[in-house]
Amino acid sequence: MPPVTGRLRVGVLVSGSGTNLQALIDLCAMPGFPAEIVVVISNKPDVLALERAARGGIACRVIAHRAYPDRPSFDGALDQALREHEVELVCLAGFMRVLTTAFVELWRDRLINIHPSLLPAFRGLHTHAQALTAGVRFSGCTVHFVRPELDDGPIIVQAVVPVLPGDDEVGLAARVQAAEHRAYPLALRLIAERRIRLIDDRVEVLDPVAEVPALLNPPDLPTHPPPGR
Ligand code: GRF
Repeated sequence: MPPVTGRLRVGVLVSGSGTNLQALIDLCAMPGFPAEIVVVISNKPDVLALERAARGGIACRVIAHRAYPDRPSFDGALDQALREHEVELVCLAGFMRVLTTAFVELWRDRLINIHPSLLPAFRGLHTHAQALTAGVRFSGCTVHFVRPELDDGPIIVQAVVPVLPGDDEVGLAARVQAAEHRAYPLALRLIAERRIRLIDDRVEVLDPVAEVPALLNPPDLPTHPPPGR
């Protein structure tokens, strides 16, 4: 990351409802927060994310992937727009296009994403269905630096939620999404406040981290002897 003098200039790429974008907008609106969202770019017109950006007084751009003959030219247009706005960090927030290796390398260590699973488990689409099929007891989300391979890269923040009896994709997605709205702002905060660094392609948090207790799901049983003993 280049040295930052003023507030970190953030660009957010979206394709849809933008609930994560909203969480980042709310974070950056906090007085004295050391980052600002300077542009929101959507590959689709008329998405709620653009309305959220406009409401927040943020510059909006639509760069429709369909208007470009191939992925390199689309990614080139994204890159140009980000540079025009002097973006220093790019946040993918429900951006539904796969980026070229060239773009990812151009923005290496300055490009982050949120994925609705505990990576490296359940890459790609339909993560909640994948989690339910696998029968895992916990799922969650991951904020990570982007690398050319899909849903790969150094992990910044993860949030864990339980998978509960009777969960379906909708219920699990809602629980994970609520966790996303805490995890993504935390990741942006860690970066904006210079509290992390990359060592050997892993993220090191510079602050001493409080011990995180183990979680059990199902919860531990009451401490009495099992029946028959
Ligand atoms: C989130 O679930 C995120 O993890 C995934 O795309 C979804 C975007 O939702 N990458 P929203 O547009 O932020 O509401």
